[in-house]
Amino acid sequence: MSSIANKQVLITGASSGIGKALCLQYAELGCHVFACGRNEQRLASLVDQNSLIEPLIFDITNKAEVDTVFASLDKLDLVILNAGDCEYIDDALQFDSPLFERIIKTNLISVGYMLEAAIPLLEKNSQLALVSSSVTYLPLQRAEAYGASKAGMSYLAKSLSLDLKPHGIHVSLVEPGFVKTPLTDKNNFKMPFLISAEQAAVRIVQGLAQKHAVIHFPKRFTLILKMLGCLPFGLWQKLAVRTIKK
Ligand SMILES: NC(=O)c1ccc[n+]([C@@H]2O[C@H](COP(=O)([O-])OP(=O)(O)OC[C@H]3O[C@@H](n4cnc5c(N)ncnc54)[C@H](OP(=O)(O)O)[C@@H]3O)[C@@H](O)[C@H]2O)c1
Repeated sequence: MSSIANKQVLITGASSGIGKALCLQYAELGCHVFACGRNEQRLASLVDQNSLIEPLIFDITNKAEVDTVFASLDKLDLVILNAGDCEYIDDALQFDSPLFERIIKTNLISVGYMLEAAIPLLEKNSQLALVSSSVTYLPLQRAEAYGASKAGMSYLAKSLSLDLKPHGIHVSLVEPGFVKTPLTDKNNFKMPFLISAEQAAVRIVQGLAQKHAVIHFPKRFTLILKMLGCLPFGLWQKLAVRTIKK
């Protein structure tokens, strides 16, 4: 882990949850951390905790803001695209296309803006991580927007890893299970094997140190989801519709 000290690390979604825990852990390891988000106050409180953290305030869905911020940066050793949002389609009979657009823009389109701006700053032996979700392992009710955005992101990360590997840029895909954060505090359903943001960050830091192509956790949850994802879809459809209540 010592080789990470003094590296330049950029993390989006740093003002709360998993991103905040990642910032504090990388700063603790001696990295210079660019902590990105919109909430200036919450990012300032991170700087109070560790002076190796430098806030960058911008909206990831605004391409001009993304370009301006990245143009002010020099080389980066590790970029973690973690910012995201979750909203559910509560009534599929009245499909909410503005909600769908908001989530796809925040979780997927913005990633394109940041990749365009960040990849030129990544040199040989650098790393890029995309934080997707284990929701991609099997379709869940009400997750049409969130699940579609994360399925897109997982494919994007895997495809990108093939194209960037020959250039010495290692891409990792991160697929967490349930993590207690402001994003999941809004959920009104049971979240099995919920872990803390700090526990999630430890697993991501370790997985990235070992350059794992896919980092998923907690395994006791993600492996069950993966197994269910192997069922014939018609069978999963019957099980899900029968057992999952709104
Ligand atoms: N928590 C879970 O169980 C879980 C599971 C699987 C995957 N994930 C993924 O993990 C990532 C982090 O989630 P979290 O649970 O830590 O959520 P969180 O605590 O709500 O944090 C989300 C972060 O994203 C930033 N963000 C959202 N929209 C933004 C925008 N338009 N521009 C700039 N920043 C924006 C927020 O910053 P500002 O408000 O300051 O802008 C915030 O720092 C997300 O991609 C999420 O989908 C989470």
